Amino acid sequence: MTAEKNTIIPAGGRLVPAHAYDTIVAATMREQRWRPRIANDIAARFGDTPTIVDIGAGTGSLTRALRERMPTASITAVEPDRQTRTIGQTKTNSQGATHAQSDWIAWVDGHAEALPLDDDSQDAAVMALMLHHLAPVHKQRALSEVLRILKPGGSLYVADFGQPHDLLMAAAFTIIQLADGVTTTRDHRAGKLPKLVADTGFTATTRLLRLRTLFGSFEVLCAESPSRDSSDDSHIGVSATGSSPQDW
Ligand SMILES: C[S@@+](CC[C@H](N)C(=O)[O-])C[C@H]1O[C@@H](n2cnc3c(N)ncnc32)[C@H](O)[C@@H]1O
Repeated sequence: MTAEKNTIIPAGGRLVPAHAYDTIVAATMREQRWRPRIANDIAARFGDTPTIVDIGAGTGSLTRALRERMPTASITAVEPDRQTRTIGQTKTNSQGATHAQSDWIAWVDGHAEALPLDDDSQDAAVMALMLHHLAPVHKQRALSEVLRILKPGGSLYVADFGQPHDLLMAAAFTIIQLADGVTTTRDHRAGKLPKLVADTGFTATTRLLRLRTLFGSFEVLCAESPSRDSSDDSHIGVSATGSSPQDW
């Protein structure tokens, strides 16, 4: 691991302490619209017992939604910041899961750019509000790592800030750029996330949701790890399936 990788932007960025993160996100990010949606989509694709990794799991809000929807899934939560990881561990072990189930969430110290997971080991990977914490070169490395650890035909879910709908959303997003940095968030503002995902080698990149939030425009992308024998897999770009008209 390089020194560069050790420099992380923690959950609340430069402005919000880790213990206040959940309160702020609950008040601003419309999380009931998208966290259950991701969990439902994974369950619909892979059934009750998939292997799932939550990368940059933070305080465990999505980890918990995944556990609640799929009590017998095998879930790994990767989070490099010790303080945040402790909050996540406590939250997912004490709420929404029985004691026995909580044992199935493995919280590990690790970075998206060097995931502590075997090749072809996961059915699904989720990156929620995480990629905008990484510099462009680290985003690419992190996406390549997801490709390595996903089984062929596995799914990646990226839930993060996207191109602003309008000037109001662009203004709202400047708060995130102040908190988490301009370099790390530039690609999001420019709407480059779907292309980044497709350029890494994922197929069938689809936008499941696009929402206005108090911190700017937010989108949920889903993409697939190509199957080994499909030499004619093509990157089909972004479609807006599943979005209701008011999301646009
Ligand atoms: C804004 S929080 C999102 C937490 C959670 N996924 C959620 O949906 O609320 C971003 C998280 O990514 C973590 N993070 C930052 N750099 C990372 C890296 N290189 N690899 C993995 N996680 C990282 C931070 O520590 C933080 O907990």
